[in-house]
Amino acid sequence: MQNNWIDRIENSLNLDELEAVRVSIFGKKGELAKAFAQLKDASAEEKPKIAKELNALKQTLTKTYDRKRAELEEQRLQERLKREAIDVSLYSPRAGGGALHPVMHTMDRIIEYFTDLNFAVETGPLVEDEFHNFEALNLPDYHPARDMQDTFYFKDGKLLRTHTSPVQIRTMMKQKPPIRMISPGAVFRRDFDLTHTPQFHQVEGLMVDEKGKVSFANLKWILEDFLHTMFGGVDVRFRPSFFPFTEPSAEVDISCIFCEGKGCRVCSHTGWLEVLGCGMVDPNVFKAVGYEDVSGYAFGLGVERFAMLIHRIPDLRSLFEGDLRLLEQFR
Ligand code: DAH
Repeated sequence: MQNNWIDRIENSLNLDELEAVRVSIFGKKGELAKAFAQLKDASAEEKPKIAKELNALKQTLTKTYDRKRAELEEQRLQERLKREAIDVSLYSPRAGGGALHPVMHTMDRIIEYFTDLNFAVETGPLVEDEFHNFEALNLPDYHPARDMQDTFYFKDGKLLRTHTSPVQIRTMMKQKPPIRMISPGAVFRRDFDLTHTPQFHQVEGLMVDEKGKVSFANLKWILEDFLHTMFGGVDVRFRPSFFPFTEPSAEVDISCIFCEGKGCRVCSHTGWLEVLGCGMVDPNVFKAVGYEDVSGYAFGLGVERFAMLIHRIPDLRSLFEGDLRLLEQFR
């Protein structure tokens, strides 16, 4: 009988079988229990001997059972490890990770250049009024920039800002000079073709201090240094121009980074690419914000244009199409 029990434990092939054997031997109504129950029929002198044997048997069976159980558990673990093993050499599709859009990345680089020089970053509302967007910037009623062709107007006379220059006005009206600020952000114009989108981004810059402390030479130095930081060893030239909010005004060109100034399609065979507008703040602007005895310079640039030149992206629209093949190159 006892060999038979031990064999049944030993021959269990898995934990389920072993459990069935355990119940049949050790269970409340199991065979061991039955054997102990029969003790009461044994004679008084035989009883202690049989009881001792039964206890020894129970111990042996328990030991056998514990060993077998450990063995089968180990076996099950090994099978599972084998079944669930990960083949690290197996191909898997690349997990997607995010990255900054090239326009935002370019914006960050521009901001970093100026904040390193202690320029403060100011922001203003996208929905502006005529005073901040035009009037205070010396753009009178009759100025063509106010035309419905260019500006998105709301019914109440408010408008989507057409440039970041109104932030100059807001900053000067809430702060006393000296001022050293840039203002990055979205701007809007009723324009949509190969080289224009209704929304784009600009960075505005403004430096104001006591009269005589801020000169065109300062403006020239900082913009040249800035453009060399952004574009490397390009030539920089200042070309006389006109903006209502600056006098004198200039547009700034860099030598064409595609043909190195030799002349190509991108630079319309001029060898130069226009990248900035700037000038000395017009006295009428200072008058509008109530500043006296100050001088200052201002500049403004389009971030998309910088991004396209830095990354040599030929078509403006590809910046807004959300094509992953473009975006993935900027991870
Ligand atoms: N606000 C101008 C524009 O949109 C850019 C600009 C030019 C800003 C000259 C300036 C500046 O501050 O001095 O197109």
